[in-house]
Amino acid sequence: MIQKYRFGTPIETCAVIKELPVTEEKLPFFEISSKKENTEFVYKMADKDIVYGLGEQVRGINKRGWIYKSCNADDPHHQEDTKSLYGSHNFLLLSGEELFGVFFDYAGTVTYDVGYTHRDTLRITPEDWNLDVYVITGECEKDIVKQFRKLIGRSYIAPMWAFGYGQSRWGYKDAKDIRKVAAEYRKRNIPLDSIYMDIDYMERYKDFTIDEDAFPEFETFCAEMKEQGIHLVPIIDAGVKIEEGYDVYEEGVKNDYFCKDAKGKDFVGAVWPGRVYFPDFLKPETRTWFGEKYAFLLEKGVDGFWNDMNEPAIFYTEERLASVMERISELSKENLDVDSYFEFTGLVAGIGNNVGDYDTFFHEIDGKKVSHSKVHNLYGYNMTKAAGEAFEKLSPEKRILMFSRSSYIGAHRYGGIWQGDNKSWWSHLLMNLQMMPSLNMAGFLYTGADVGGFGSDTMEDLMLRWLQLAVFTPLMRNHSSRGTREQELYRFDNCDTCKKMIEIRYGLIPYLYSEYMKAVLSDEMMFRPLAFDFPKDAAARGVEDQLLLGNELMIAPVYTQNSTGRYVYLPEEMMLVRMRSLSDYETQVLVAGHHYVKAELDELVFFIRKDKAIPIGATAINTERLDAGTLKLFGYAGATYDLYEDDGYTKAYDLDSCIREIV
Ligand code: GLC
Repeated sequence: MIQKYRFGTPIETCAVIKELPVTEEKLPFFEISSKKENTEFVYKMADKDIVYGLGEQVRGINKRGWIYKSCNADDPHHQEDTKSLYGSHNFLLLSGEELFGVFFDYAGTVTYDVGYTHRDTLRITPEDWNLDVYVITGECEKDIVKQFRKLIGRSYIAPMWAFGYGQSRWGYKDAKDIRKVAAEYRKRNIPLDSIYMDIDYMERYKDFTIDEDAFPEFETFCAEMKEQGIHLVPIIDAGVKIEEGYDVYEEGVKNDYFCKDAKGKDFVGAVWPGRVYFPDFLKPETRTWFGEKYAFLLEKGVDGFWNDMNEPAIFYTEERLASVMERISELSKENLDVDSYFEFTGLVAGIGNNVGDYDTFFHEIDGKKVSHSKVHNLYGYNMTKAAGEAFEKLSPEKRILMFSRSSYIGAHRYGGIWQGDNKSWWSHLLMNLQMMPSLNMAGFLYTGADVGGFGSDTMEDLMLRWLQLAVFTPLMRNHSSRGTREQELYRFDNCDTCKKMIEIRYGLIPYLYSEYMKAVLSDEMMFRPLAFDFPKDAAARGVEDQLLLGNELMIAPVYTQNSTGRYVYLPEEMMLVRMRSLSDYETQVLVAGHHYVKAELDELVFFIRKDKAIPIGATAINTERLDAGTLKLFGYAGATYDLYEDDGYTKAYDLDSCIREIV
């Protein structure tokens, strides 16, 4: 059951798709406390309570013990003490003494003190008191999530080719670089479906332009890559360069499509190209206009995009930059002591992405001027919505790949997300795993992280272990920052082992795609904490580094350096699969309980649940070449599998007619 509670006059977020009546009843579970300066929702937690959810956030599957903030942030340092990442997903699920889900539908900042100040107290503080709260009760965790997912609408569906392996790097500066990447992969027969184009392809970082010197005859280049079975996936940024004569800028100014400053002039911020205007994506006219711009690339043969810098990331605002410069010039005349030195470093560090700037620009919502800080978390969502709505018109038949960095619940109907600028850290490999279920709860099923890590220098063993997790995630993209060690698989001595992992991925795609489609079409989670399927099992409730995948698998990757195995908890009997390649593997049935499982660096280990089997096919150089005729059941004898199959390309998806039993 879902009950809707209204406080004040909320700003419409379009997160939910069902109009529910507002109940007059008292909000259950929470006390509303106004003792401090803020009004808060307070819930007393029992020792055994687990708090799931919050979507894209750092730390574990159980969120207890820290403070989180919904305030979309461009922060490339995802540390244990980080409070906000790129998305705001205000859905929590409490499981223990009570069982309920709660969604705070609110576009501004919300703080979640999840047993940090007091171990037994969950304290939720929205910045003001205009919000809708949905409380969901149900039989079990999975049932509550399903009800929530039905409330927020069906998740975006990616094309099948987006389940292939993708190679990306910030720094492929021209067609020659990209051709080289393609050639190196093809030469070694490493499967590959896509190469991503970062900001380097644009003409001086202007959206919907192509640097003609670096990418002459782009359309022909795109066709050449398609010929090799490779999709090019360009990036689109939120800010529009201020430049006389640049059509996107000119049209935006003329038609009032940009956010305004306090005086009503177009608001100036700065990102990659220097000074930019930010499209006011909260205005339907702006969305329609910006969305149609994607046609520029679609017409050249592109069929996938990633939306970036849409929190929005702001390097500086003119006002702040001027005042900081002024103060620094004063400080430069001083002998910097402890206070003035810290003031100085604080001033410089605080120029970019300063939340104080969110009060200095405005959106227009239903003809009214609204401060950005009130709707900050909706910005990236509406950029993705602009694209998603346009694709419906520009490409009504064919699916277009879209994933975004910033998001709010609702964006999941228009695209996936990736987990942003992680680092080549072992802890971020674990974080990748831990975020999968909370993102699924919030409707983001097409997701994954930058494999190998985006920032800092990767290691070949980290890359290989990361691949052993990413073989299971819908988005499997190797992406890295400029200035870091190059991490295309052919750069490593162990390239051949990496290749085998990618080949296993392609063997698994029919299964992964099938489970993804079933999860999307029935509003379920593809990745679940163990406790969702084994709620009464105390040990399963504590597991933070294993997940259930679909209905048949459990994954338990190795995420520590130099380990040649790990402890795994089996809530029921399962079949251990140890795979070195699609043709070199062994299986062993293990009884329920704790096990130490060996997993050498070149061994992918996963588990098939009792009496289940999955289809595995032959590998192929790309998804288009996968041959359904090669599928074989793998797992417990006598088990069958219901395979979901469609063309992976059009929108003719349907749960009833696309299932085929494999025996
Ligand atoms: C941002 C993105 C990253 C991209 C970079 C350059 O940091 O998150 O993926 O490579 O910008 O465009």
